[in-house]
Amino acid sequence: MKHLLSAADLSRSEIDSICDLAEEMSEVQRREVKKLPTLRGRTVVNLFFEDSTRTRSSFEIAGKWLSADVINVSAKGSSVSKGESLRDTVQVIAAMGVDALVIRHSSSGAPAQAANWVDASVVNAGDGTHEHPTQALLDAFTMRRHFRLVDPGFADWSGKTVAITGDLTHSRVVRSNVLLLHTLGARVLLVAPPTLLPSGVDSWPAEVHTDFDEVIDQVDIAMMLRVQRERMSGGYFPTAREYTIGYGLTPERLARMRPEAAVMHPGPMNRGLEISAAAADAAASRVLDQVAAGVAVRMSVLYHLLGGANETGATA
Ligand code: CP
Repeated sequence: MKHLLSAADLSRSEIDSICDLAEEMSEVQRREVKKLPTLRGRTVVNLFFEDSTRTRSSFEIAGKWLSADVINVSAKGSSVSKGESLRDTVQVIAAMGVDALVIRHSSSGAPAQAANWVDASVVNAGDGTHEHPTQALLDAFTMRRHFRLVDPGFADWSGKTVAITGDLTHSRVVRSNVLLLHTLGARVLLVAPPTLLPSGVDSWPAEVHTDFDEVIDQVDIAMMLRVQRERMSGGYFPTAREYTIGYGLTPERLARMRPEAAVMHPGPMNRGLEISAAAADAAASRVLDQVAAGVAVRMSVLYHLLGGANETGATA
């Protein structure tokens, strides 16, 4: 694997391989000394043109725990704020001899463009409303762990129903999750008010619903998505109150979920809007498990990109 730009690029065996190695990497997370020599001498640059808490920190931790040198570059504080172009910025950083560029950008397709301009591996850490493949991988890893807790023999995703509910129009997480879950074979339900359904959604490999109450008792995973108010110029519809009544994971809807079902949210959460505090903090919530999985999965992704034939050292 040279780059990770889209969840569509990953085969079933590649997803399984990344998740299997992430299981090994998560052992490191539990150690007192969290350091493997695997990527010693390699350099990873986190190049973030948009804000991030989870993705940037977890890529930084992942690289450092694998002994890579990790440098963070943000648009603010770099020559991007003086007007330097994306092409010049990535080529300048690549010219310093970096091995991987982890790029977040507000424009869909920016990481794929960057991959054409440099020899380094490029990871899409979220591009506009397009994709966020490592989020989909950590979500699949979290779901797989949850399903294995319920049934240790779990392997067949075709019996599993994942409902992704919320602001689908502005979400890059939904696109990567639909692609990845389709490859895995899960049934995906997309739930949103008609005003927040992306154009062309009918051609996606998923069922589209506008009534959350019709499906809430069928799901194995209720994945809630953030209402991205910052991407809605001129206000948003429905209103916050209408949205919560129709599409929020309220305590009442939480109570209607199957006993073994789980709640997920990629974060950051709008508590009280798309997810109630009762659901975010419920025993069924896997939200913090997703955050922890972000480090292990990104260690695995960096290893798959840069590790070559080296031993991981995770089981040593
Ligand atoms: N889920 C996610 O991408 O979160 P951040 O924006 O905090 O990285």
